[in-house]
Amino acid sequence: MKLCIYPGTFDPFTNGHLDVLQRAAKLFKHVRVAVAIDSTKKPLFSPEKRVELIRANLRGLPNVDVTSFDGLLVEFARKEKAVAIIRGLRALSDFEFEFNMALMNRHLEPKVETIFVMPNESYSYTSSSLVKQIAKLGGDVRKFVPANVAQALRKAYPKK
Ligand code: COA
Repeated sequence: MKLCIYPGTFDPFTNGHLDVLQRAAKLFKHVRVAVAIDSTKKPLFSPEKRVELIRANLRGLPNVDVTSFDGLLVEFARKEKAVAIIRGLRALSDFEFEFNMALMNRHLEPKVETIFVMPNESYSYTSSSLVKQIAKLGGDVRKFVPANVAQALRKAYPKK
């Protein structure tokens, strides 16, 4: 069974991430969303909460599941017997970071390919940190994230 891993911090999961996931689900027999526990970022949501927020959006995607992982992504991919890692490329600005990460991962584990997909261009300016910033300042983020994520953000940043 060809398994692909879709890793990320997902703090929080956005409609752009969902778009990438829907595309990946068409390409692979099985896709496992992998929420990174170790992150250089300081996530707002706990790994458990991020997993829960993603899981609620997997209806209609029977070949997708979600879990969290600790440590090196390639170790996790190897353990899961994944053949590929999928990442979204929103714009040219994503390229350098993604290119370096893909090459480093290939160096660490040559058997796992990194595959890039382009989300719909309407998501090219969506990012988790912008969404959090807007929510924190009381703005409406419902266009950018699934309903349960918008609700979780409202709870995390109650109106003053
Ligand atoms: N739609 C919307 N936003 C998207 C997106 C899409 N399709 N694709 C990426 N993004 C945005 C995110 O919103 C996020 O924005 P932010 O930085 O403003 O918050 C950013 O791009 C990337 O976040 P995310 O997609 O959650 O992934 P990430 O870059 O945080 O993930 C890991 C990085 C977890 C894959 C990487 O750190 C890792 O592999 N860690 C494990 C340790 C390891 O193996 N390290 C060695 C790597 S060589």
